Amino acid sequence: MKRPVAKPAPEPGDMVVPRSVAVIMDGNGRWARQAGFERIRGHERGIDAVRTTVTECARLGVQALVLYAFSEENWQRPQREIDLLFGLLKRFLVEERGTLMQNRVRLLHSGRRARLGADILRLLDETVAHTAGNDGMQLSLAISYGGRQEIVDAVRQLAQQVQAGTLAPAAIDEAAIQRHLYHPELPDPDLLIRTAGEQRISNFLLWQVSYAEIVVDDVCWPDFRAEHLHAAFRAYGRRVRKFGKVT
Ligand code: FPP
Repeated sequence: MKRPVAKPAPEPGDMVVPRSVAVIMDGNGRWARQAGFERIRGHERGIDAVRTTVTECARLGVQALVLYAFSEENWQRPQREIDLLFGLLKRFLVEERGTLMQNRVRLLHSGRRARLGADILRLLDETVAHTAGNDGMQLSLAISYGGRQEIVDAVRQLAQQVQAGTLAPAAIDEAAIQRHLYHPELPDPDLLIRTAGEQRISNFLLWQVSYAEIVVDDVCWPDFRAEHLHAAFRAYGRRVRKFGKVT
């Protein structure tokens, strides 16, 4: 019988491709201000970085990528910025469908649907359906998303089952909460990347990032390129992951 060839252990400093990556795309406004543009131009230019990140993660074999595109808190931004942001998200879903198909990417949406307009919901649902047969990376766009809200929504469903008498309180464990997250099938992020230098989680995937490695890059999101992604994967490769145990 042929013995499987052992994969060489990564050299320190080598790039290690995580199974699952989450990104807080920050610094669009700062990028625009520094360039002398209005804030929305930063979001516009951020689309290039989204395209690069999606295609490069898919090419490298990342299995799941979650992008924080619009948080529950972002509803408090000026209405004009919200409208322009949703205009960009809709444009992305129309114009990048070909890129998603070429890269065999499956699109998902994470977040609350209640406040989303009919147009964006239709485009999200259409793109999810259109890409459902792809066998490559899963790309979840977190839109109208909050980590606390996701846990609240999961707990509310469990409470309803307890009230209906179909679930015993003692049966509520981590697995039960996991099953009621927006996308229980997505693996927890191994790596959380945040741009623009801020060292915060900002209500992103609170349940799922328990053991994620965090890499903060000073670059503003519109300037994020494949080389920054590779640098994050190299930093990830240098981490020792113990998951609370002793190595
Ligand atoms: C944070 O920058 C960024 C956002 C709130 C929106 C992110 C949206 C995009 C990159 C464009 C569309 C996305 C997709 C997936 C097509 P900020 O405005 O808070 O920046 P600042 O902190 O410098 O002001």
